[in-house]
Parts: sequence; structure tokens; C-alpha cells
Amino acid sequence: MRNSFLPYCLPLIGEEEIAEVADSLRSGWVTTGPKVKRFEQEFAAYVGAKHAIAVSSCTAALHTSLAALGIGPGDEVIVPTLTFCATANVVVHLGATPVIVDVDQNFQVSAEAVCRAITPRTKAIVPVHYAGQSCSLREILAIAATHRLPVVEDAAHAAGAEYELARIGSHGNAVCFSFYAIKNMTTGEGGMITTNDDALAQRLRLLSLHGMSRDAWKRYTEAGSWYYEVLEPGYKYNMTDIQAALGIHQLRRLEGFIRRRREIAAMYDSAFSNLPEILLPPRLPGRNHTFHLYPIRLQADLLELNRAEFIEELRARNIGSSVHFIPLHRHPFYRERYGCRPEQFPVCEEIYQGLLSLPLYPKMTDRDAADVIEAVRDIVAGHRTPAGEKGALRAAIPAEL
Ligand SMILES: Cc1ncc(COP(=O)(O)O)c(C=O)c1O
Repeated sequence: MRNSFLPYCLPLIGEEEIAEVADSLRSGWVTTGPKVKRFEQEFAAYVGAKHAIAVSSCTAALHTSLAALGIGPGDEVIVPTLTFCATANVVVHLGATPVIVDVDQNFQVSAEAVCRAITPRTKAIVPVHYAGQSCSLREILAIAATHRLPVVEDAAHAAGAEYELARIGSHGNAVCFSFYAIKNMTTGEGGMITTNDDALAQRLRLLSLHGMSRDAWKRYTEAGSWYYEVLEPGYKYNMTDIQAALGIHQLRRLEGFIRRRREIAAMYDSAFSNLPEILLPPRLPGRNHTFHLYPIRLQADLLELNRAEFIEELRARNIGSSVHFIPLHRHPFYRERYGCRPEQFPVCEEIYQGLLSLPLYPKMTDRDAADVIEAVRDIVAGHRTPAGEKGALRAAIPAEL
């Protein structure tokens, strides 16, 4: 057993990021300035979008995007239940109703459920690219086009992900990324909205900084002027140059980070593929997987211990883990305000019972990954039900015998 605790996740920040942040501090541009502009341009070019607007978080990105699309009281916005609360909270903040729908067996929002949820009040669809793999975007975009609805993609997990050979960020009306501490790349806290729509980009920019017709950088440089106008009551969601300093270098390293994530995922795949007690994360055709998360499913009938006990056993072996996510429909606020019942989400309910994310991040060494593997295998071997014992025996016998 390892003698130090392996946290569920850690960021990987290098000397380039540290030097760039120090440069920002020395320069005096500690709020939105030239580095934010540079980061926006480089991010837009990376994903293949016309515009990128840097903001203070993905939550801010989602909130601003829905506001810019005119979502308000009386409107309905479709969101999947297997997501972080931010996806739906921002809909509530706008006075609209989040219409929570089930996911499919691949953990992604169910296109069928989205179709069924559309009413005359529906004003937007917010699919989530769960775990760093694209949802069935073609189907979702087709449904949206049929009903003339905008799509705001929650790409919090999906920086660097691809769908049908194009990067996430280049498709929907507005695509929202997270640079939170443990995401595929980080600015500490931070987010980005990408869009190909010129008018929407302009409104997003306006709303992300108080609804002012000029941003601070332009106002205080020699080229700027003192005059600005508030065109509508926007938000204070701008990214700082200190955050962008981190982001510029994290973006350059993103492909390498994803490569490392895939390597660790491949180690887990091959170590667990002969354990019937564990279902591996689904892989979908036509898209790459950035492995922001490695969510496994424990098979309840083959194991004597439940998910909470499994997490405790991992902790006892000095391995951190987490659950992504407690579905929206199970949280008291969503349950009580919108009358959500578990029976309305049969697929997510089935998935959630044994859902568990193992540590997977570029800072992990091969030894760390081997420790996770050893701990999981050890727990499984010590807690098989009689049915699990039979299954393990079958899995151990080569197929040709
Ligand atoms: C699916 C999803 N959406 C949105 C967010 C919010 O991101 P942020 O913390 O950058 O606001 C998260 C954060 O974990 C997330 O997992």
C-alpha cells in the first residue's frame, strides 16, 4: 500500500506559468489586459472558433451565454441530470425553468429525452460533454435546428475534445469551457465562451463586463477614451491578466496533458477489463476522449460493498476518489422546486448507484496509476459476492478454452 495519500486530482503548473504570472504582477496589468486578449485569440484559433470571450468561470460563461440569448422568466431550458449544479443554477438565476432530462447509457444527454422535453416554452438546449467526451452533438444540433433553438454547450470538461474531427468549441451557438483548478487546463478559476456568431460575440462581451460599451483595457490605454455607456445591466465576469497568464501556457501544454490522461486511461482499461465487477467508461465513435474523468460503475450484484464503502476502502489504501455527479434531480432544491422524481430518470438512476471517478490527471506518475490499480483490484478481490466469484472465475479462463 502507498504510504502517502494520492489526492483525487491536482493541477500541473510549470515554471512558464509561474514566470508569466510574475510578469503580469510586475507589469501592473493585474486585471483584464493584453494577456486576456492574447489568450482569447490563441484559444479561438486552437478550437477553430471565430470568437473567444474569456470570463471568470464556466458558470459565468453559461450565465452570460443564456442571458445574451435572451433567456428569462417563463422560458424553459433543457439540461441533463448528470451534471454539476452550475449547468442548471444559471437557468434559475435568469428566472427561467431548467427542464431536467435523463442521460443515455453512455452518460451523455439523451437526444430522445431532449426531443420529448421540448415545449412551446423551450428557449435553449444545454448539453454537457460529460467526462471530456463529446455528447451526440450532431443529433442535438439537428433537434435544435428543427425547433429553431440555440444550443449552449457545457464544455466544462471538454477543452481539447473533438467531435467528427472538429474541436469542441467550433460547433454550437455558444460553447462554455471551465479552467477551474482540476479541469483539462486551468487558470485557477476561469472560463471561456466560443462562438462563430459576430453579433452574439459582441453581446457576450458587453454582458460579461457590466453591459459597458468599452472594456477597461481600452479605456485606460492611450488609445482609449474616458467615455463609456452602459447599454444594459451586465455582469462583472471578466477574466484577469493573472488568470490569462496561466491560461496562455496551459493551452500550449493541453495536447500533452490530454496525451498523458489517455495513457493513464489505457493503463486502467487494460487492468480492469477482466474485472466483471467494474464497468469501464464508455467510448463513443466519431469523437476523441480527453479523459477529464475516469468514471467507473461498480456492479452491485457482484460486490459485497456499496459505492460509499468502496470509496472508504480506497481511502484506507491512501487513494482519493470522487463521484461525478450526484444527479440534479436528487438535490433537494431541484427535487422540491420542480417535483423531480427518480422514476423520471431511470437510466441515470441505474448509472448513479455505482458511479465512481478514479484519480486521473497528468501530474500522476505511472507508480501512482499502478497504486490505484492495485487498490481497486485488491478491494474487488476481497469483496466479491458468490455471483462475483463465479464471474471472476469465468473471466480468468481464456476465451478459447
Ligand atoms: C459540467 C460542469 N459544468 C459547469 C461547471 C462549472 O465550472 P466553473 O467551476 O468553472 O464555474 C463544472 C465544474 O465543475 C462542471 O463540471
